[in-house]
Amino acid sequence: MVFFIGLTLAHCCYYYSVTTDTPEVLISEDDIQKRVVELASQISADYADTGELVMVGVLKGAFIFLADLSRRLSIPRTIEFIAVSSYGSTSVSSGAVRLVMDVRGNIEGKHVLIVEDIVDTGHTLKYLIGMMKSHRPASVKTAALVRKAESAQVDVTIDYLGFDIGNEWVVGYGLDYAEQDRTLPYIGIIKPTDS
Ligand code: PRP
Repeated sequence: MVFFIGLTLAHCCYYYSVTTDTPEVLISEDDIQKRVVELASQISADYADTGELVMVGVLKGAFIFLADLSRRLSIPRTIEFIAVSSYGSTSVSSGAVRLVMDVRGNIEGKHVLIVEDIVDTGHTLKYLIGMMKSHRPASVKTAALVRKAESAQVDVTIDYLGFDIGNEWVVGYGLDYAEQDRTLPYIGIIKPTDS
């Protein structure tokens, strides 16, 4: 009996901490989906005459944006992934970018679109543009769902941008804090404990 009362109390405490920690909505699911449709329409028009587009998603954060964006395109496209590491497990950007996994297919002579979830300092995207160009593609462009304009440390072009946001820490729609909250359908704000 004591065991079951203890178990129930533990569940209540867990439920309370999860529900009170729910990130505040910054960009709603509806607004994200509308913007994804707009971006897909723009990309489809821009690449209408160029043949196949190779979309390169940056793991892990871009996996949801890439999935939604790619399915809204009306042009031929293939999917690749690349993995880099920049932040480690804290919320402080080191500026150092490390390649963890390169594209699997041959992208030489092809049109490449790098797909990012977020551009913060810009170091990662700048590094990735250089990386992609080393494969000698026909062209390299960039798409990002969100950009922290105030945090930019390097000049980097985002050809297809979803939203500009402030300097808050955001989670959801692929973005995480210490691997949590990536699967939220919206972009929410949290306050990291190590910032
Ligand atoms: C995030 C994001 C970008 C990068 C942007 O990745 O997905 O790749 O940081 O930061 P920057 O503009 O300051 O370089 P993160 O290292 O958090 O890995 P994840 O995508 O696996 O969460």
